[in-house]
Amino acid sequence: MMNNDNGSLKNTIDTVLLAEFLGKLAGCTRSMGLYGRSHPVMQEMTDAAHQALAQVLSVNPVVTLAVVDAYLTLDSFPIEENPESVSALAETLDGHGVGEIAFSAGVTEDEIADLAEALCMTREDLSTRGGIIADVKNRGVTHIQLRSGFTPAEAREGQGPADVYEEALLVVEEALEAVHTGLRIPLPEIRAVVEDSLKSLTSDETALLALAGIRSYDRYLSEHSVNVCILSMVFARGLGIDQSIAVDLGISALLHDVGKVFIPEDVATKPGKLSEEEWEHVRRHPSAGARVLASMPGLPSLAPTIALEHHAYNDGTGYPSLVASRRPHMLSRLVAIVDTYDALTTDRPYRERWTGQQAVAWMLYEAPNRYDRQLMARFASTWDLYPIGSLVQLVNQQIGVVVGGSMKHPTKPTIKLISGSGQSKGAVNLHENADPGFEIKSLAQPVEALLPFTDRLLAA
Ligand SMILES: [Fe+2]
Ligand SMILES: [Fe+2]
Repeated sequence: MMNNDNGSLKNTIDTVLLAEFLGKLAGCTRSMGLYGRSHPVMQEMTDAAHQALAQVLSVNPVVTLAVVDAYLTLDSFPIEENPESVSALAETLDGHGVGEIAFSAGVTEDEIADLAEALCMTREDLSTRGGIIADVKNRGVTHIQLRSGFTPAEAREGQGPADVYEEALLVVEEALEAVHTGLRIPLPEIRAVVEDSLKSLTSDETALLALAGIRSYDRYLSEHSVNVCILSMVFARGLGIDQSIAVDLGISALLHDVGKVFIPEDVATKPGKLSEEEWEHVRRHPSAGARVLASMPGLPSLAPTIALEHHAYNDGTGYPSLVASRRPHMLSRLVAIVDTYDALTTDRPYRERWTGQQAVAWMLYEAPNRYDRQLMARFASTWDLYPIGSLVQLVNQQIGVVVGGSMKHPTKPTIKLISGSGQSKGAVNLHENADPGFEIKSLAQPVEALLPFTDRLLAA
């Protein structure tokens, strides 16, 4: 694995050589605008920049620089010499919203030329390509990674839940990408979005939760990570867990699946059954993720623990298998619940999503020992599977309205059966009724014709 941290690299990196490379990169960028990529002079210049960078990377395989106004800094120190040309380069990066630039061993001349070309483009042109970060990535550049600038706290005041959710998605995508390429994950940004999410949940829990319900295929892993983070913090708040622990929990939940970046794409998205060998890739993601997170200073120690244990179930099943005497950490057991809940309620290539009610019912009754019993009971009651007034459809196709008992028996409340004309056909306590036809099949779509009658039925 590559070195993920350049915490003390300033001592080992030849900063004079680094400054020389940056000067050459700045020169390439300036000339690219004048001559265009195919001009012979450009090939000489990118070759010279490449040679200087290759020397820097031969000592240390990853070098990450922060962009601070008109400076490029290493470990918070400006590079010894930031000549004017390098300052101009830093200003250009800053102007495009880049906060960090990382170079890793294996970088090619073409990648340097791609970066220089992107840096010459106007903001308008870049915006049609999704911004400079997306543009550089879309050119197939993998050994130079740009990351967005860190938005200062004052600028984030007044952000709505949608901004918070989107920012969390972007940050987690950067983190996943960084883990994939062996680079450092953007920890300050991660902490900031988790704190913002917690603040947003404190003022209005429902808005952020509603966003967690909207899914798309292509962002599955990042959306799943953000959702598990939000749901974990909501759940923890409901349990009265201290706010400071909630932030550590949120960060750890956000990163619980980073090990999935090591699962081959075709295995992760395979619609059919997995072979034993393919399963082996999947089973390795908790330990792979934990290993990466444990090597990153500054992360809560809870992060590698949760990454390792979120599929190690309470009854000793799951993976990896822990030593017999060890139960997963209480917060790993909490994340295991919301992790399964979110996975079950999302469309996947191999199955359609379940409703929240179906997911909780399955976890309660079909896998009763897998999850911490007490936590699971609290989770089910938080979700209130069938609140009073819900319209439900039974296995025998009849429609009913829930009139009570859902807190005590989350999947078997008492209902009143109703006919198509909205007439009550009598109450049935599903918990006491053993007829399999009298089991809830699904929440009935709110049938508009029936809605005016629900009040009357509840009052009856
Ligand atoms: Fe997982
Ligand atoms: Fe997960």
